[in-house]
Amino acid sequence: MTSLNPLDRRGRFKLGIFAANCSNGMSVTKVPERWDASWESNLSLARMTDEAGLDFLLPIARWIGYGGRDINFQKDVLETTTWAAGLLASTRRIAVISTVHTAANNPVVVAKQIATLDAIGNGRAGLNVVAGWNAPEYAALGLDLPASHVERYAYAQEWLDVIGRLWETEGSFDFDGRFFQLRGVHSDPKPKRGRVPIVNAAGSGEGRGFAVRNADFLFTPAIDLSRSGAEIAELKAAGREAGRDVEVLTFSHVVCRPSESEAKAYYDHCLAQTDWEATDNLVNLQFAHAHSFPHDLLALIRERMAAGHGGFPLTGTPDQVADGIEALVEAGFGGTTLSFVNYAEEFPYFRDEVLPRLEERGLRSAQPDAVVQAAE
Ligand SMILES: Cc1cc2nc3c(=O)[nH]c(=O)nc-3n(C[C@H](O)[C@H](O)[C@H](O)COP(=O)(O)O)c2cc1C
Repeated sequence: MTSLNPLDRRGRFKLGIFAANCSNGMSVTKVPERWDASWESNLSLARMTDEAGLDFLLPIARWIGYGGRDINFQKDVLETTTWAAGLLASTRRIAVISTVHTAANNPVVVAKQIATLDAIGNGRAGLNVVAGWNAPEYAALGLDLPASHVERYAYAQEWLDVIGRLWETEGSFDFDGRFFQLRGVHSDPKPKRGRVPIVNAAGSGEGRGFAVRNADFLFTPAIDLSRSGAEIAELKAAGREAGRDVEVLTFSHVVCRPSESEAKAYYDHCLAQTDWEATDNLVNLQFAHAHSFPHDLLALIRERMAAGHGGFPLTGTPDQVADGIEALVEAGFGGTTLSFVNYAEEFPYFRDEVLPRLEERGLRSAQPDAVVQAAE
């Protein structure tokens, strides 16, 4: 069966945009040109990246900002399913993922939301499942965040099982689980190909077990590439054991300029304008409740959190940024997201200078065909 979803193009090194729906994006900086995450900015970025042949847009589901001294980091956040609806209706090729917290969203509602998005985008929807980690955010939603990862992911598993059953079952059925008891439920229409690509970004053992059983794409930070190769091999092997082909992706932060000194100067300028209170809120929360980042690399991570929310730094000339992407490919990553201090202002230079270099090096083919062959 053919698919219009670029995420179904197995083997292609995928490039996406991350967190453009959040004010400040991934950079905890006060520079005046920082990302505003307005709808107009998102729409213009989505159209630009769609035209340029990027593969996907990945939003962050966030309900309260991280605070800070001078900024409230990620205070303004466009809700991800409604954001995806607008963008899928306004683009032609790019996949648009919705990020959804299991505990905050009834799975029967989500099954229908995602199928609706897939209809709007003619098969280009995706679902990023978040099992929860941010305790103040759960308090703001009036939800309990289970202390145990076993509980968080047991709930996520049943939640996703409900969605899977709704998408694969013709006619009504009852569901008797530990968390959900449903009577006479069905969900129609189904997504175009019966399902959509599933994404997860767990760091814990329990979460990664969930990811390899359920996700097509698992995101993990690229903090130390010398460790990444083994980590990716292990995750892919666990996927194969579960009978699944899981691609491991990461997220990167880009500062690309004509000269290395200009790129470094801008990176340093943004870092000097960091709101360290917001950065520490972010780091402390991550380390208290989530297992996203290796805990022994804290010092390095604090700067990377400030610069790009822990993203792999792609700082330098177009050749150096292409080198960084090549290093990710060599480590075994199947793709990366990109973030910029100001996405819409900075992406065109990346498009014009880095994308052709990736093609020249054989790391990515030119724009994906309008119709791609699904991996089935
Ligand atoms: C690329 C990426 C995207 C994520 N998106 C979100 C998000 O939008 N909202 C959220 O609350 N958590 C998000 N997370 C957090 C993960 O879903 C996960 O909870 C976290 O990495 C901790 O892993 P653990 O649950 O196994 O401890 C994201 C993490 C990564 C690396």
